[in-house]
Amino acid sequence: MGPRQLAEIERYAESHMARLGLYGWPHVKRVERLCMLIQKDESERNDVDPLVLKVAALLHDIAKHAEKKENLVDHGELGARMAQRFLKTIGFDKVKTGVICHAIRAHTHKEEPISIEAKILHDADFLDKLGTVGIASVFIKACLTDKTIEEVAQMYCSKERKSSYVAKHIHWLKRQDLYTETGKRIAGQRNKIVPTFFEALKDELDCKRK
Ligand SMILES: [Fe+2]
Ligand SMILES: [Fe+2]
Repeated sequence: MGPRQLAEIERYAESHMARLGLYGWPHVKRVERLCMLIQKDESERNDVDPLVLKVAALLHDIAKHAEKKENLVDHGELGARMAQRFLKTIGFDKVKTGVICHAIRAHTHKEEPISIEAKILHDADFLDKLGTVGIASVFIKACLTDKTIEEVAQMYCSKERKSSYVAKHIHWLKRQDLYTETGKRIAGQRNKIVPTFFEALKDELDCKRK
């Protein structure tokens, strides 16, 4: 794949990410960078194809807008079909296309990630929900659903499992279902700040801090 084909893929991917807000194009670029970071470490243990991984990262959420409109659509499944059609039009390698489509389908758990590229993409996408970006995302979601700071703090302390938009993300901050060793290590580092942040927030809301 030459730089021209890559530029075409990037253009196509970005054109499908408009008006998605929190999970728009900046999210895709963060996931791409995380994939490259994980790949560096994982390639010591596994045979990773960096090109397949890069293209899968760029295309992984191209069907997100369709899922936003129609809740029954799985953006991994539809995105894989769209990616397959698009990659064919630019003459992209058939075997590599298959691996990319598997990774796109697996990132929404439509199928179990089998290839190392699918495992890395899954982990990179999940890591973008953790740490400081995760905390910021929780508060954006709170704002979008008219929740107060106090309600978010309360949800973090609650042991009860709720399925609201915000509670679901808070649940992600507390668990680490990752596939790669590197992903698990980065998740541990990123999430160190989460309990510290919420304890400090609670103290401030209770006026325990000067
Ligand atoms: Fe996604
Ligand atoms: Fe994503």
